[in-house]
Amino acid sequence: MSFTIIEPCPARLNRSELAVPGSNTKFIEKAASSKADVVFLDLEDAVAPPDKEQARKNVIEALNDLDWSGNTISMRINGLDTHYMYRDVVDVLEQAVDKLDLIMIPKAGTAADIYALDMLVTQIEAAKGYKKRIGFEMIIETALGMENVHEIAAASRRNETLHFGVADYAASTKARTTVIGGPNRDYAVLTDADQDGARQVHWGDMWHYAVARMVVAARAHGLRPVDGPFGDFSDPEGYKANASRSAVLGCEGKWAIHPSQVDLANEMFTPSEKEITQANRVLEAMEKAQKEGQGAVALDGRLIDIASIKQAQVLVKKAEQIAARDA
Ligand code: GLV
Ligand code: MG
Repeated sequence: MSFTIIEPCPARLNRSELAVPGSNTKFIEKAASSKADVVFLDLEDAVAPPDKEQARKNVIEALNDLDWSGNTISMRINGLDTHYMYRDVVDVLEQAVDKLDLIMIPKAGTAADIYALDMLVTQIEAAKGYKKRIGFEMIIETALGMENVHEIAAASRRNETLHFGVADYAASTKARTTVIGGPNRDYAVLTDADQDGARQVHWGDMWHYAVARMVVAARAHGLRPVDGPFGDFSDPEGYKANASRSAVLGCEGKWAIHPSQVDLANEMFTPSEKEITQANRVLEAMEKAQKEGQGAVALDGRLIDIASIKQAQVLVKKAEQIAARDA
């Protein structure tokens, strides 16, 4: 191991993250009883400029009046390049004291973006006597943000999550896309002809590099990597395939831009019974080996390495968190 010890961010379930427009009070009310692990009230791109002020008022009201104890609650502020942002932070934090768990920072481009916001939030928390420290979640959704993803991840002790914002990322990198977050028939490999002259088209995942890069940056700094939106909410199978790819790469969850995607995300990012049983067996084998003073741990005729034991511990802890949430 390295001499550098990575402190993990506070442990929260983040299998599903439901996006709710701050301008729609009906949707906000419904979200308060959602099974989403995290709900973010959006003041940014889901809200048109003429509705920005009202949306901010709605969010303040929702934080004060609704019961969010079943969810981690976040708000997506406007970009640091807009004049809306400072009031998003000042008004909401001053008028809804100790209500927010997280602030979501869109289009994070540099570490200085996070630093600036940290300073502002720290001052408001001190002035208003906040009891809990608000965490930050950053959306990596521009070429600049991806280029600086490591510095962004390391920029504040408040940091908890990196999200991959595929829609804006596509716009920023000028990628030719079809479905938001989905596969693209133009990103494919054409195989050589087989003996019958037939050639096959194998679709690739054009987002592989971006998600993998974000996951590494997040994990290297003890943060949670979370995959962003899948645009076609009438395609649950497509959503699940996307979520499955992200989970394989190390993401802890995925956005739901429609309530119907919450259950899909929870399902896809919950460890299966089989995985949990196997993880418990690994831990039992380790305990037994320790009691018997054996250096090496074996299970089913195979040696178990430290990495597998750590993975098993993480998995069992997550299963406990999920069980506690469901209870
Ligand atoms: C999310 O904000 C995205 O741009 O995909
Ligand atoms: Mg975006």
